[in-house]
Amino acid sequence: MINLPQRPRRNRKTQAIRDLVQETHVTVNDLLFPLFLTLGDNKKVEVSSMPGICRFSLDLLLEEINECNNLGIKAFDLFPQYEESKKDKFASESWNEEGMYINAIREIKRNFPEICLMTDVAMDPYSSDGHDGLVQNGKIANDETLEILGKMSLAQAKAGADILGPSDMMDGRVGFIRNILDTNGYSETSIMSYTAKYASAFYGPFRDALDSAPKFGDKKTYQMNPANSREAIIEAELDASEGADFLMVKPALAYLDIIKLLKDNFTLPIAAYNVSGEYAMIKAAAQNGWLDGTKAMNESLLSIKRAGADIILTYFAKEFAQNLKV
Ligand code: PBG
Repeated sequence: MINLPQRPRRNRKTQAIRDLVQETHVTVNDLLFPLFLTLGDNKKVEVSSMPGICRFSLDLLLEEINECNNLGIKAFDLFPQYEESKKDKFASESWNEEGMYINAIREIKRNFPEICLMTDVAMDPYSSDGHDGLVQNGKIANDETLEILGKMSLAQAKAGADILGPSDMMDGRVGFIRNILDTNGYSETSIMSYTAKYASAFYGPFRDALDSAPKFGDKKTYQMNPANSREAIIEAELDASEGADFLMVKPALAYLDIIKLLKDNFTLPIAAYNVSGEYAMIKAAAQNGWLDGTKAMNESLLSIKRAGADIILTYFAKEFAQNLKV
C-alpha cells in the first residue's frame, strides 16, 4: 500500500459520513410550484406533454393547493389558460378584475392567506398574437406594452398577489411596474423579475398547456440569445436598480453557468425556473424506462441549487414533497 496524504474517498466511505460532508441540500422550502388554471367547474385535465401536471378549474385548484400545502409547499406561481375567444390584440382580459385569472388570485388568497402566491405578468396567455408584448406592424412595441403590463400588474396586486413575475422581457418593465405599484399603495407587493430569460426550445410543453404559442415568428427580439452570458449581467443590473426583489434565470439546467454568474455578482436572492421542457424530458425518459425518474429529478434540483439558486420554480415540487413523506 502506498502512503497518500489525501484520500478523498475516506469522506465517501459510509452513508453517515457522506451525509456529514454533503454541501448542498434541497428542501421543500426552496421550491415554488407553478400551477395552470382553466375555466369551468370540476375540471382537471393532464397536459399531454407534462405527465402528472394538470390544468385545474378554480374549485379543484383550491383542493390541489390545499394538498400541496399539507405536503409543506408554501409558494405557488399561477398561470391562466384562456380560450381563443377571450384573446385580443391588447390582452384586455389580463386586467379584467372580474375575469378568471384575477378572480382566482382573490379566491386563492382568501382561502390560503398564509401561502405565497406569485402571478405572471406578460401578454401571451391573453394575446391573439400569442406574444408577450403588443404587436404593431409585425413588431413588438416595447413602451406601449409597458402600459398594458402596468394595468395587469395593478389588477394582480389589488387581488392580493404576493409576488409579481414579469416574464415578458420588455425593457424598463421592472421600474415601470414598481412605480405603478408604489403610486397606488402597493409598496409591499414584490417583484421577481425574469431577468435572464432565454429564447429557449424548452418552453414547448408550457405553450401546449396554455395554448399560448406565438401565432407568427418567434420571441428572439425580446428573449435572450442562448449564446450570451455577459448580457445577463446587463439585465440583472437594470432589474436590481429598477427595484426587483428577486432575480430569475430561465431555463435552469442548460443555464447553470448563468445562475452561478448572477449569484456571484449580485446580492439579491436568485431564482431559477426549471421549465416545462426540462420536466418533460425526464418524465418521458422515465416512462420509457430509460432512466430512474426520481433520481434524475433529485439530481437536477440539486444541481440547480448547487449552481447558486436560492429558489427553484419547478413542476417537480409536489412529487419532491411527496417523496419526502414516504
Ligand atoms: C411566457 C412564459 C413562458 C413560460 C413562462 N412564462 C413561455 C414563453 O416565454 O413562451 C415558460 C415556462 C415553462 O416552460 O415552464 N410569458
